[in-house]
Amino acid sequence: MHFANGVELSAMAYGVWRLADATDTSVNANLARIDACLAQGLTTFDHADIYGDYRCEALFGEAIKARPALRDQIEIVTKTDIMLLSSQWPNTRVKHYDTSPMHVTASVERSLTRIGVDVIDLLLIHRPDPLMDADALGSCLDGLIASGKVRGVGVSNFMPWDVELLQSRMTNRLQTNQIELGLMQTKPFTNGQVAHAQTHRMPLMAWSPLGGGRLLSEADQPGTAAARLNQKLADLANQHGVDTVAVAIAWLMHHPVGVIPVMGSNQIDRIATFGQAMDVPMDRQTWYELYELANGHEVP
Ligand SMILES: NC(=O)c1ccc[n+]([C@@H]2O[C@H](COP(=O)([O-])OP(=O)(O)OC[C@H]3O[C@@H](n4cnc5c(N)ncnc54)[C@H](OP(=O)(O)O)[C@@H]3O)[C@@H](O)[C@H]2O)c1
Repeated sequence: MHFANGVELSAMAYGVWRLADATDTSVNANLARIDACLAQGLTTFDHADIYGDYRCEALFGEAIKARPALRDQIEIVTKTDIMLLSSQWPNTRVKHYDTSPMHVTASVERSLTRIGVDVIDLLLIHRPDPLMDADALGSCLDGLIASGKVRGVGVSNFMPWDVELLQSRMTNRLQTNQIELGLMQTKPFTNGQVAHAQTHRMPLMAWSPLGGGRLLSEADQPGTAAARLNQKLADLANQHGVDTVAVAIAWLMHHPVGVIPVMGSNQIDRIATFGQAMDVPMDRQTWYELYELANGHEVP
């Protein structure tokens, strides 16, 4: 998918958040996950400095170091501004956000070093910071693009007014807003986030598109969205010869705003079916049937 600044990401992305939780985090296991993604057409890898208590970027970096040719086959997204309470940051007393130019610039340098690359394809501000100085952050982000350290910038979890504020102090266009969106989280369709993105022709990235796995794990729990959706997803999956995940992701990708789902499985056999979602047909009424089941009521 082409973004406004010429950054190009794959139609679906792979999220690295859970990488450190995998039973096998060896270089070979991570190379196998990356290869499985590439085979499915997923070339975009979504990181954040904090993932795995600041370890996931380095785990991924070990794989690139083992096979440097990978760098030219993939796009790297990473994020900054969350400061966790972590042994890595002994002076942090409270979890907070830091959008100061000093922090953002140093964070980019750390991400480049940990992943072992010269440039980040897309840098996202991870969460809106109540203390954000938009003038300072805007010119810092423009400066990072001018320096060649990042190719494009965007935001994550921003409301429309947060996007407007930061964009108003920047020369470069914000490329995306990465938000929680999917059958387990439909609020952005009505809270202004999707409408704002479409207004500005800004494709979205959807995090936890399966609700962090709850779409599957809660399917047998009465009263949940997952339980309501289960039978319909299974019927559609059978009809199209795919798995239920593919139907749920196709539902998300059907939206005209342009949605890049950020997939989170560590399991090779699951990654190996991700691409199915790109071939599942979705018509308006099927979309609404799933939307109604997700929300638990018909539209007004
Ligand atoms: N910007 C933000 O604030 C933000 C926040 C959260 C996440 N993210 C990004 O979004 C990415 C994806 O998030 P996510 O991992 O929550 O995505 P997700 O796809 O909603 O959930 C992935 C989880 O679902 C499980 N799962 C997948 N398929 C399954 C199946 N068929 N049956 C049962 N369980 C299944 C996976 O377990 P297995 O590994 O066992 O398959 C994994 O634990 C993250 O890696 C990160 O890059 C961004």
